[in-house]
Amino acid sequence: MPVADQDTALPEWTDIQKKNNAKNTREPFPLRVRWPSETFNERQENIMNIYQRIVQDHDKHRELASRIMKTEGNSDERNELWAQFKPEATAHANAEEQTLYAELLEAQKSQEQARHSVHEHKEADDLIKELDEMDMSSGGWIQKFEKLKEELEHHMKEEENDVFEIAKKVISNDLANDLVDKFEKRKSSEISEVA
Ligand SMILES: [Fe+2]
Ligand SMILES: [Fe+2]
Repeated sequence: MPVADQDTALPEWTDIQKKNNAKNTREPFPLRVRWPSETFNERQENIMNIYQRIVQDHDKHRELASRIMKTEGNSDERNELWAQFKPEATAHANAEEQTLYAELLEAQKSQEQARHSVHEHKEADDLIKELDEMDMSSGGWIQKFEKLKEELEHHMKEEENDVFEIAKKVISNDLANDLVDKFEKRKSSEISEVA
């Protein structure tokens, strides 16, 4: 069969494919529509939810706090690390309150736990303010910081275990994904206010 005849005998979908390839667009529907479940699951895993985003910050706070504990007096290192830690911890707590806790305060099932966490935020905030006004070279500064570190470690552990468990019962997976964007926006605006 001559080449010209072969071309005219091509089925309609192949013509569509040719046109689409020329335009560098996706294949038309009947050709190869495959959406394997592994691909879907991988896509789901790539989307960070509010819980993972919060843990990301917690890990950063744990690391910064441990580094501060190793610093001495009114050193540059202590000043620099505190200048990172303070807005981070404050903005994180405020962003949590505007996103995760705003949702948890709405639902009766999670209200009590949310109130408890918000109360702990206030306690940590008071300690942060006290530390900010204290002389870093005094021995009392690191003692008070250690208290803050311990309180925050307890708070973060409680969030990651108890709070998240309750939250997963009252917040849909879609909302848990959507809250990340709100958290980021809130946190960056808080940081720019503090800076
Ligand atoms: Fe918190
Ligand atoms: Fe937190």
